[in-house]
Amino acid sequence: MRSIGVGLIGWGTVGSGVIEVLRENADAIESRLGVPLRLLHVADRDLDRDRPIRVDASLLTTRLEDVLDDPQVHIVIELMGGLGAAKDVIVRALDSGKHVVTANKALLAHEGNDLFQTAVRNDRAIGFEAAVAGGIPLIKSLREGLAGNRIKTIFGILNGTANYILTRMTEAKLSFQAALKEAQDLGYAEADPALDVEGIDTAHKLAIAAALSFGTPIQFEQVYTEGITRIDPLDVRYGEEFGYQLKLLAIARNTDGRIEMRVHPTLIPHHHVLASVKGAYNAVHIQGNAVGNIMLYGMGAGMMPTGSAVVSDLIDIARDILGNTPRRIPSLAFQPDRLKPLPIKPIEDISTCYYFRFSAVDSPGVLSKISGILGENRISIASVIQKGRQEEASVPIVMLTHEAVESHVRRALAEIDRLDVVTSRTQVIRIENQETNDFF
Ligand code: NDP
Ligand code: HSE
Repeated sequence: MRSIGVGLIGWGTVGSGVIEVLRENADAIESRLGVPLRLLHVADRDLDRDRPIRVDASLLTTRLEDVLDDPQVHIVIELMGGLGAAKDVIVRALDSGKHVVTANKALLAHEGNDLFQTAVRNDRAIGFEAAVAGGIPLIKSLREGLAGNRIKTIFGILNGTANYILTRMTEAKLSFQAALKEAQDLGYAEADPALDVEGIDTAHKLAIAAALSFGTPIQFEQVYTEGITRIDPLDVRYGEEFGYQLKLLAIARNTDGRIEMRVHPTLIPHHHVLASVKGAYNAVHIQGNAVGNIMLYGMGAGMMPTGSAVVSDLIDIARDILGNTPRRIPSLAFQPDRLKPLPIKPIEDISTCYYFRFSAVDSPGVLSKISGILGENRISIASVIQKGRQEEASVPIVMLTHEAVESHVRRALAEIDRLDVVTSRTQVIRIENQETNDFF
C-alpha cells in the first residue's frame, strides 16, 4: 500500500486543526509511518464560512457520500459533533469497511458500547484519543502505557472551558458570562456550552476514562454531575481565604469492587499541583497498583492540540492497516468479552470534607444551633469564619468540616435550612485535601 486515504467530516475548530497538523507535519508523519497519510475529502454542510485555514477546493464537498463511498478512503474522521447524524456517519463508515477516528465524547458516552460492538463486528477500529483531555495522550496511556496495572483512581481537570472560566473569574475578576464568551471565541467550548459549564462534558470524559481504567462498559448515566453555574464569586474568595482554589474536578475510584464516579466543583489546597492548572489546560492523576501515582498535563481543548490527538489515532490505525493487525488493541483497553459492569457507589455513600456557606441572621446562639445539628449528624467542624457583624438581614458564616459522609451532610443541611434564623439555602462545596486523598 503506497498511502493511507483519509476523509474528514466536520470542518470546524478541530477539523481545521487536523488539516493543519497533517499539512505542517506531513514529512514527520510519513517518516514515522513509512507511507503518507493522504487527505482525500473535507466534508461540511457549509463551505463558505470563514475558517482559520484554507483548503484546496478540489477536496471540499457538502456530500457525506463522497467520503463514505470512496474506496480510496481507509479512515473516516468524524468531527461534526452531536449525536444522531454523527452516529449514522460512524456506523455507515464501519459497515462499509472503513476505520473511524472521532473526538465526539458525547456520542461515545451515550452510544460507545454499541459503536464498539459494531466496530468489532466489522473488524474495524474506532480511535478516540481526542475525546478525553484534548491533546493529552490519556487514552493511549490507559490502554498501553499502564496496561500492566490495576488502576485504582483517576481524577483531574477534564474540561478546558470550565477551567478557563474559573481561572479568568479568579485572576481577572471577569464575570461568568464574559469568561465563557472568551472561551467560545478561542474555540474551546462545545457548540452547546451548557455541556461544559453544567459538568456534562466532564462526565462524558470521566465515564470513558473510567471504563478504560476499570474494565467496565461505559456507564455515563451513573456519573454524579454538578457544574459550575451555581458558583458565586464569594465562594471563590472565601475558599482562597482558607487556602483553597476552586476547580471542576472529575473523580473516579475503584474501591472494594464498587466504583465512585463524580464531577463537581471542588476546593483543593493552593499548594497542590492541580491548583496551578490554569486556562484551558487539563491535568489527570492516575494511581496504578504497580506504577504508583502519575500525572499527565497539557492543553485540554483547542484547534491544534486536539488536531494532534486525532492525527495520533490516524497513525496508530494506519500502522495496523499496514501490518494487517486491525483492532490490535481493544477499544476500551480490555477484551470486549471481559468487560463487566461493577456496582456503583452512590453519591450519598461517599466521604469527603466540605465547605458550607450559611446565610443566617446575626443574633446570639445561631452558631451554636448550626454546630449542634452538625454534631448530631457526626459532622466535625475544622474551621469557621463569620464575615463581620452587619446591620443587614443576614451574614455569611463559612465553615470547613473534617471528613464526613454525604448522606449525613444532606440530612444536617436539610435541618439547618429549615431553621428560622437561616435566610437562604446553604452553599455546599466538596473539598479534596490530605485528609481525603493521598495525592494531596
Ligand atoms: P465545530 O462546531 O467547530 O465544528 C463542527 C463542524 O461540523 C461545523 O462546521 C458544523 O457545521 C459541521 N457539521 C455539523 N453537523 C454536520 C452535518 N450533519 N453535516 C455536515 N457538517 C456538519 O466543532 P468542534 O470542531 O469544536 O468539535 C468537533 C467535535 O470535536 C465535537 O464532537 C467536539 O465535542 C469535539 N471536541 C472539540 C474540542 C475543541 O477544542 N473544540 C476538543 C475535543 C473534542 P455548523 O457550524 O453549521 O453546525
Ligand atoms: N469543550 C471541551 C472543553 C473541548 O472545553 O474541554 C475539549 O474536549
